[in-house]
Amino acid sequence: MGMAINNLPQIREECEIFQWSDKQLREVMVRLHSAIEKGLGRDTHESSIVKCWLSYIQDLPNGKERGKFLALDLGGTNFRVLIINLGDNHFDMQSKIYAIPQHIMTGTGIALFDHIAECLANFMKEHGVYEERLALGFTFSFPLKQLGLTKGILQRWTKGFSCSGVVGTDVVQGLKDAIARRGDLSLSVMGILNDATGTLLSCAHKERHCKIGLIIGTGSNACYVEKTEACETFEGGLSKQDMVVNTEWGAFGDDGALDFVRTEFDREIDQHSVNPGKQIQEKMISGMYLGELVRLALVKFTRMGLLFGGRGSDLFFQRGSFYTKYVSEIESDKPGDFTSCMEVLEELGLSHATEADMAGVRHVCECVSRRAAHLVSAGLAVLLNKMGEPRVTVGIDGSVYRFHPHFHALMCEKIAQLIRPGLQFDLMLSEDGSGRGAALVAAVACREIQKAT
Ligand code: BGC
Repeated sequence: MGMAINNLPQIREECEIFQWSDKQLREVMVRLHSAIEKGLGRDTHESSIVKCWLSYIQDLPNGKERGKFLALDLGGTNFRVLIINLGDNHFDMQSKIYAIPQHIMTGTGIALFDHIAECLANFMKEHGVYEERLALGFTFSFPLKQLGLTKGILQRWTKGFSCSGVVGTDVVQGLKDAIARRGDLSLSVMGILNDATGTLLSCAHKERHCKIGLIIGTGSNACYVEKTEACETFEGGLSKQDMVVNTEWGAFGDDGALDFVRTEFDREIDQHSVNPGKQIQEKMISGMYLGELVRLALVKFTRMGLLFGGRGSDLFFQRGSFYTKYVSEIESDKPGDFTSCMEVLEELGLSHATEADMAGVRHVCECVSRRAAHLVSAGLAVLLNKMGEPRVTVGIDGSVYRFHPHFHALMCEKIAQLIRPGLQFDLMLSEDGSGRGAALVAAVACREIQKAT
């Protein structure tokens, strides 16, 4: 046995590729800003990478919405069905999580929608509303080209889904067809929306300055309130002043715009994903990939002999074995304490790790999550600068933001550096935006219909 050698300095050096200077971040901002402008522009939209889809949501909730609504939430870690009661001073909500088995995630679209309709029917039975004709809002968190509040054409699957026969078709119709195939439910689908949009709506319900919705969960995305006149792809004719725009910024970088800061680890993640070349920014930020990014770096350092005495374990060398929640757990240890880190390494069969190894592991986690927080911050700064409103609240949801111990602080610090002087912002954790947002969309749509009749 030799003396314990401290490899931390060399690990730090290897990790510098994860650290972006403000100059690099500002370059990312310039590129994202122009990608967003292209998405909005009539003549540039077709070839744009950041699509800036219109949500057809022009009325934000005003807090006066009332009634009982059903909601579906597909596209995060879980699929959920919810029933929501919007009352005078309360917001009752009951929900149930249903698994989407792997064979359904990658099977046919028909099987997916049949599964959803079946879960919905079971849920309605359990909640005694099987016979009722309720309004339903559908949170569907994948890139949709919306042609109206109840019509959305799927552009691509993300986050590990790849059901056949759905891309290019109207997802609302897919759901309605499945409900019709069963023949036992009567529902009105009142709206389809994205989880970022849902988050924006549910925060706006409580806080009138909320004009941006952000998701940093399994995937990543942001939406914001834009002037309708800047939405050049809108063909709605006479219209209201504002429109919620779903940027789908997860696709940023698909044309190489981020290549100047990507690492070998990013390229490897991409090559082994179900959607190579797609969702490049998302793959640097979101929960589906952060743990694996850390693992890839750790594996490289182990092979270089910088960690674990050069010895890994079968599990550690297996793709996907390092969960993103481990990153949050490891960084939750107090400085100098490695309790969670040790637990994680033991779970991975690395109980031979020394304290120096643990310090190295923690450093890699910090670098990968800091880079993610900075990239999100650059994106938010682009939106805040573009909107130019003196004060904006950002409603945020998603497991990475919610559970990572420092993400919020890292973002506050970096955004403040990147926005124009004089602008103010708040970051607000959203309580279940996807569920509430769907109910609110249904409620607002019902209200508008009543107004019109
Ligand atoms: C999807 C977005 C979604 C985001 C967060 C991305 O992969 O394309 O529509 O909002 O994940 O769930």
